[in-house]
Parts: sequence; C-alpha cells; structure tokens
Amino acid sequence: MSSITFAPAERLWLLRTPNTAYVLRLADDDTPTHVYWGTPLDLPEVTALAVAGHALTSSFETLPGPDELTVAAGARFGPPSLSVRFADDTAVVEWTYVGHDVDGGHLAVHLADRHYPLAVTLHYRVHDDSDVIERWTTVRNTSDDEPISLVRLDSAAWAMPDRMEYRVSHVVGGWSNECQLHRTAVPVAETVFTSRRGITSHQANPWLMLDAGDADETHGEVWSTALAWSGSWRITLHREPSGRCAWTGGFGHDGTTWQLTPGESLDTPVFAGAYTPHGFGATSQTWHDFTRQHVLPHPDELRPVLYNSWEATSFDVDEAGQRELAALAADIGVELFVMDDGWFGGRRTDHAGLGDWQPYPGAFPNGLRPLVDDVHKLGMAFGLWVEPEMVNPDSDLYRSHPDWVLHMANRRRTELRNQLVLNFGRPDVVDWALDWLDGLVVDNELDYLKWDMNRLFTEAGWPGHPDPDRLWIDHTRGVYRVMAELRARHPRLRIESCSGGGGRTDLGILAYTDQVWTSDNTDAADRIAIQHGYSQIYPAHTMAAWVTDCPNPTTARTTPLVFRFHVAMAGVLGIGGDLSTWPAADLSLATELIATYREVRSAVQHGRQYRLVHGPALTSVAYVTDDEVVVFGWRITEPFGRRPALMRLVGLDPAAEYRDERTGTVHIGATLMASGIDMALPAGDHASVLIRLHRLR
Ligand code: DGJ
Repeated sequence: MSSITFAPAERLWLLRTPNTAYVLRLADDDTPTHVYWGTPLDLPEVTALAVAGHALTSSFETLPGPDELTVAAGARFGPPSLSVRFADDTAVVEWTYVGHDVDGGHLAVHLADRHYPLAVTLHYRVHDDSDVIERWTTVRNTSDDEPISLVRLDSAAWAMPDRMEYRVSHVVGGWSNECQLHRTAVPVAETVFTSRRGITSHQANPWLMLDAGDADETHGEVWSTALAWSGSWRITLHREPSGRCAWTGGFGHDGTTWQLTPGESLDTPVFAGAYTPHGFGATSQTWHDFTRQHVLPHPDELRPVLYNSWEATSFDVDEAGQRELAALAADIGVELFVMDDGWFGGRRTDHAGLGDWQPYPGAFPNGLRPLVDDVHKLGMAFGLWVEPEMVNPDSDLYRSHPDWVLHMANRRRTELRNQLVLNFGRPDVVDWALDWLDGLVVDNELDYLKWDMNRLFTEAGWPGHPDPDRLWIDHTRGVYRVMAELRARHPRLRIESCSGGGGRTDLGILAYTDQVWTSDNTDAADRIAIQHGYSQIYPAHTMAAWVTDCPNPTTARTTPLVFRFHVAMAGVLGIGGDLSTWPAADLSLATELIATYREVRSAVQHGRQYRLVHGPALTSVAYVTDDEVVVFGWRITEPFGRRPALMRLVGLDPAAEYRDERTGTVHIGATLMASGIDMALPAGDHASVLIRLHRLR
C-alpha cells in the first residue's frame, strides 16, 4: 500500500510506497527541502531523522538544501531546477508556502514567490503497486500584465543520501549503437546528461541509476530516475566537494527559454524515481512493472510476430514484391506485415517525396487497398511506415508550405538525409498531420503505424512567433497530440516508435506507442549489448527485435540463423530479412522457431526478467512466470579451454519442481538457484541456447 502523511508541526510530508519511504519538509524560509529516500520509515522515525551537519561552513562554503526544486535564492551555487527572470529583471525566487492537497496518491504542494506573480506546484504521485514515485511541476504566471521568462524549468530535483562514494549508471551510444551501458564514479563536478537534438537521442537516454559503488545485479542500494519526455532534455548531476550527490532534470536543453505570458501555466513532464536495496536487477524490474502498470496503453496484450520490409526492399517497394514477401511471411507464422519506407509520393530514394503521403502510382496503381486486403486475407494484420514530422524539399508539401519547417531568418536550412523538420508546434501542421494520418488509417484499414523520425533539429526557429523557443517543447507535445488523437479515434490501432532505430525511446513516448524499434543495427552479436542496455529501464514487451539476413547489412558479420533468432526472441520477435532469398531449410527453421516463440512469448513479454550474466563469453537472460521459466544463453566468442559454469537461476520457487523441456529432467527450484543448470551451450562462436522449464508443482 502507498500513503501520504502530513506532519503539521514539522511541516513534513511522508510518502510511502509498498517498499520505500520518501520525505520532504518545508524549511524555515518555506523552501521545500529533501529529507529522506530509502527503506520504509514511519512518521515518528522520520520526524526524528538526523540531519547530517558535518559540512564546513564559511562565507565561501555553504550547503543549503538539498531542495526539492532548486531555485536561485540566497547562498545557493548549484544548478537550479527553476530559473526565472521577472519583468524587472529580478532573477531570484523566494518561496511562500501556500498550502497542499492530497487526492488519493497525489500530493500537490503549492508555493508562490513572496513578491512576484509566480505560483508553483510540486506534484508527487505514489502507487499501491509500485515503488516508483512520479514527480512533476506546474508553474503559473498569476499576473494580468507581466510576462515571466522561464530560463529553466525542471520537473524535479532528486538527491541520494550521503555516502562516501557515488557511482552513476547510464547509457550512451549513437545510431546503430544505442543503449551502451556505462557505470562510472561520479566526479566531484557537475555532469550534464543531455540531448540538444529535439528527440530523446541515440547518444544518451534520460535515466540515471545512482549507487554508492557497492551495488551489483542482485545486491545493494540503487536510486534511479527516468524522465518521461521525447524531445530535448537535460539532467544535471552534481557531486559537491563537501560530499552531497543530487541531480535535477527536465525537458528542454540549456539556453532554451519559455516566456510565460500573464495567466499562462506550464506543466513539466514526469521525472520519476525509484529506490531499491536489491541491486540493479530489482531496479530494472521495478521500472518494467511500472511501465506496464502505469505507462503503456495496452500492457496486457501479447505483441505479434512482425515482418518488416525495410532490409529486404529498401525504397524499392511495389505491390507485387510486397505481396510475395507477405505470402512468405504468412507461411512461416508472421502475424503482422509492415510495409516500410518507399510507398508514397515520389519516394524512390531518400531525396524526394516525404510530405506527399499518397501511394506512389508507379508502384501501387490501385492504391494500397489491394495489398492490405491480401495481407488481411492471409490472416495477418497490416502496418505501414510513416514519417509525419518530416519533409523533403523536393516534395509538393514543401513547395506549398516552405514556412512549415523549423528555420531561422537569414540562415541556411541544413539538410540531413535530404530532409527538414516540420514544426509540430504549429497547430496548422498538427491538424494537417492528423487529417492525412486519419484518412490513411481509415481508407486502408490500417492496424499499425511505424512512426519514424530520422532527422535532428537544426536552425530550430519559428520566425514571426513571439516566443519561438517554445517549439522545443511544443513540437513534442504536438507529436503526442497526434498519436493520442489517432489512438482515440482508432482504438484498434497500434503504433511503433522509431527514430532511425532507438532515437526516441523513453517513458514519454511509451504512453502513446506499443513498442519501440530498438536499433537499426540488426546484427545479433551487437544486439546483445544494445538489448542489455535497453533492459535497464524498458521492458522486453516493448523491445522490437528482427531476424535479418547475413552478412548483416550494417556490420557485414555472419552469424547462424538460430543465433539470430534466439537473440531476437528475447524481445518482440520480428523478421526483417528478404524471405524471397531464404533457402527452404532456413524457412523451415524460421517456421519452427516462430512457433516456439509463440509458445514462450507470454513469459518473455510478461514475465519477470532476470539478467543472469553479461559478457562476450556468455550473456544469459531469464524470464520467469508462475509456471514457466525461459532462459536464453548467447555466446559471442568462445574462450579457449574454459568450460561454461552451471547457470544459477533466480526468482524460482525453491520448493517447486521444474521440468527441463529439452531433456525431461526434473529439477528442484532450490537446486537450480543454488547450484545451477547445465546450459549445454553448443561449442564455438555465436552459439546460443533456449531453455524452457515448466513448473510441475
Ligand atoms: C529508419 C528506420 O530505423 C528503419 O527501420 C527504416 O524504417 C528507415 N528509417 C526507412 O527510411
């Protein structure tokens, strides 16, 4: 159970989640101050909490806070969460406490500036079924006539308790190299994790895990936070020379401002946090559960096995070719056929056509409907690739609306992949997108959209708009709005988030989509690390993974088909190869493995995920439900002269018996956890195994 308790004498709030406690209080000057985040404590215990008072103070050395939302005020020199400039250029906030409301699991703490027309509400939401605490902030300009310039507005500031050491885990990468996990000591410095690209980005992802340098997969305290936002973002982690470690984060990157007009209010996205004393594995499980319970639109559905045409046909799509692929896909057990880029406008290469969303007559003389009907007759759902935020300058849309793109006066319009970004902050652009997308879905009875976004923001201006910087936030909101409206109008429609692979993976987009195209890198050997990083926060249920051809188009590496399948089967399985070139033996192996995936997918997609071991010699991941255990083992390179150790499982019932479906051997849960199971991984590089255990009693 969760609860929110207010102690009026101490002016303190105690938030309880099922397994954690979080405490804030008002300081004497009404500053909302962080007190505690950790294992459960009750009210008498938290009111008696000792406050660390060891920091040296002098006129050069001050340590107020840590604050729940740091502002420039008094002797504070760390990164502010809220930075404002009032009409008379005053840039310091002084708080007055106005009151608070509790509505179920939602606490709203209302504050105002002592003098200026700024009202701020700090929001906290706790859930009965999760240790994730959601936090966000609302600001409001309460004047009739004075604007307030918001230089920075973060969702929340977080702090972990004082420890001797601090370590941060996060992911870095690039296109085709997303989600590479980094775990490193926190420097005594301000470390900025950010995207200035207009999207979440391939280079960084808006979550952090902090520990005292002593946590591992199954042990140790971990404090983690994740931002639910799909545009530019910034999280600043600061470790003070005197010892404290705290961080503040939210939408927008440095230097973007928002002019808060009289009467206007602005809500930030959620920046949520979770504490666990049980290591990184439990941290990930907490986020996986939260994503299912409180983020995804249809968490209980099983994601279908998909076929995607991109690697097979590139832009060279036509009705006959797609029909042939669809027939082959249906034969091997695919459930959702997705036609990728190249079907519309003058889109024969990436030089033209984006923006002109009518089927290309040379390839689809009778429109898309005949193909869609055929795919439906084959028993598959039909999905279509779109890139609504983009336009090629060589398109009718751009020729008629050159002002719809992000641009700045007297500056070049930099082209990336020969395309420009449509400004989804503009209501007319959002209306246009909604109109043609809605028509496309209705006219073709589409079941699925793959919504791609292949270009970062440059020259991000909005000439003529009084507050052009707001496009950094309003663009993302516009995207959310179109997706939400499409979903509302077409409840059966499912959407995939793609941005050149995993450039838009975050808890914000997952509220409007059903799965993410994890990476354009489909090399199974590389995917193991990408999937490992992805799994730190995001559940397997959302992680699309295709089996494609060899040599791999990105890396030129060749790996066995069964290895490619076993890696992709650890997420939402898809097929992305050119099936028309697959030999009969490969098609038959694919049929068998897709059938197996359909048997194990409820465990993979809805089970509890345990990362058992991760390294080039062996990575192993298990998915556990009440009656089933599915274990994958993948080896990239075989070290000479070392037998693989038995694999110790976790999360089983020690008293239960489990039958190994490979051999019929019955094991006791306690033995499997204490001693382990022989994985019987085949010899050699790029070897893999799938183990299925059924609980007998
Ligand atoms: C980038 C995506 O990640 C690919 O899967 C594919 O859809 C291409 N765009 C198409 O242009």
